[in-house]
Amino acid sequence: MKDKYICPSLLSVAKEKRIEVADQLLKMGIKWIHYDIMDNKFVNNKAIEIEEYVEIIKSTSSHLSDVHLMVKDPFIYAEEFKKYATCMTIHFEALTRDKILEFVQKYQELTWIGLAIKPGTSFEEIKDIIHHFEVILVMSVEPGFGGQKFIDYSIDKIKLISNFIKQNKLSTLIQVDGGINDLNAKKVFNSGANALVCGSYLINNLNEKTLKKLL
Ligand code: DX5
Ligand code: ZN
Repeated sequence: MKDKYICPSLLSVAKEKRIEVADQLLKMGIKWIHYDIMDNKFVNNKAIEIEEYVEIIKSTSSHLSDVHLMVKDPFIYAEEFKKYATCMTIHFEALTRDKILEFVQKYQELTWIGLAIKPGTSFEEIKDIIHHFEVILVMSVEPGFGGQKFIDYSIDKIKLISNFIKQNKLSTLIQVDGGINDLNAKKVFNSGANALVCGSYLINNLNEKTLKKLL
């Protein structure tokens, strides 16, 4: 399924509007929605609650959903999300290597498993475990808040990961999250990304034209 995806993030949408916006996005042809989950510990913020996520999933037509678990203990969250999510993405920086692999073992039969890395985490640090994941989520801003500026050095990291995936004939997808807009989307896709998470740029100008500019 190596295609080009835009994965809208509902983080910057007002809580009471999220179902309506998700519906609108799906009608516009969006196939994949990105749900930001925070515990106010791993990052200094709170985003979508488990109950709200379940409500959105139940109220909208079926789509690929990834939950970006910006939390210290993803095991607790996974127990709920495993019933509803297509992909559960954990942060490399939140767990030890053993715990990361334990998470994969425990949930890989139930959902895709993604591995997210913060801007300060290098390709070399994750190289030996990439093959365990369906998705590598490269954070192109510090996790926690929408509306930040894309960090340019993310491009080199995406290229390294993409080359590694090709050389090793893996089916792992590369998702990029943070500061995506019409000016950088093409460059990010061209560097090897398969899926771009887009929050404020798309949500602030929600129409077909904005979406087209990203693809
Ligand atoms: C930030 C979140 C992102 C955020 C992206 O920690 O992981 O998914 O919603 O928003 P923008 O596109 O505004 O950077
Ligand atoms: Zn995210």
